[in-house]
Amino acid sequence: MGVGTVWVKDETGRLGLPAFKILGASWALWRMLTEEAGSHPPSASWDGLLELARRIGPRRLVTATDGNHGRGVARLASMLGWPCTVFVPLGTAPARIRRHRIGGGGGRGGRWRLRPSRPTGRRGPRRSDPAALLLSDTSWPGYEEVPVWVTEGYRTIFAELDEQLEDAGGDAPDLLVVQIGVGSLAAAAIEHYRGRVRLAGVEPIDAACVLASLRAGRIVNVPGPHRSLMAGLNCGTPSRTAWPLLRSHLDAVVAIGDEWLAPAIRWLGEAGIEAGETGAAGLAGLTALLGSDRARTVLDVGPDTSVVVLCTEGVTDPDGRRRLLGDEDDGESPDDDFGRPPGGDPALGDP
Ligand SMILES: Cc1ncc(COP(=O)(O)O)c(C=O)c1O
Repeated sequence: MGVGTVWVKDETGRLGLPAFKILGASWALWRMLTEEAGSHPPSASWDGLLELARRIGPRRLVTATDGNHGRGVARLASMLGWPCTVFVPLGTAPARIRRHRIGGGGGRGGRWRLRPSRPTGRRGPRRSDPAALLLSDTSWPGYEEVPVWVTEGYRTIFAELDEQLEDAGGDAPDLLVVQIGVGSLAAAAIEHYRGRVRLAGVEPIDAACVLASLRAGRIVNVPGPHRSLMAGLNCGTPSRTAWPLLRSHLDAVVAIGDEWLAPAIRWLGEAGIEAGETGAAGLAGLTALLGSDRARTVLDVGPDTSVVVLCTEGVTDPDGRRRLLGDEDDGESPDDDFGRPPGGDPALGDP
């Protein structure tokens, strides 16, 4: 690839789930419950969360997602013995839906509408569902506190990354490539690394809402349908709380089509990592970026550059993944694909 080192932060297994998202949900719930209880314990712990949940609960956890965040919230609820409702968009792969524990009504339309309840109950919960706690990983006007806490939880990844690189004898990375859905994960990376590490985001071409927003200079919505196999990244609007960080601190954003995924999945497989499509998007985005001279210049990439890509997800839709790899399996080594942009030049943003 013409760089020094490429490290992969493997997030294909986290608390028994195939993605990192429960890090955000669990930390946000901890913050919600400590606020509600008016207690300020010195540090977070699972036992502390259980104790708080016993005092305050039971509550219904509610969220909207097309995959991993909902699964993290559902797992959290089941660990606490609480009910949970997860709204998913029409068209979500059945395998992904089955892995949620869904109680109550699910989302029916292609677009969901959620009216936020008071997350902490300080002003009194909504009358229709007094026990509901809305735990969203994205924000909108009037719902901003919880998504910030979700982002705080994601920072665990980068704190670990620093330790793991040190243990592996690696230096701090020069460049981090991060998947972008609504941008909360990228915001966590920015909070951790800003000023120290160059940051590039990856989005699917038809859900490139951060790229479109950067070009417009304000948050814009990219209307669907968002059909990428990178299901976790199929988001039409950046999170309001993430946006100021994304706008000021991303060095580049690349939008890729699904045709970039198969070689990345195979490379990760050769390195012993069973990546799902969204998980492989980090490496796929890196290959797209490195195929562009302009991106190499913008990101100041050279033969000594140390890069970290995140593999944010394991296999969550085995049928879809098999189809992708089967269709693309031309018997060539993935190395033969490098530098050959499958769909023309990547759309490089230049914030
Ligand atoms: C596996 C995976 N990676 C990356 C992301 C992107 O995170 P964010 O939506 O915070 O940008 C998501 C979002 O759901 C995801 O599920």
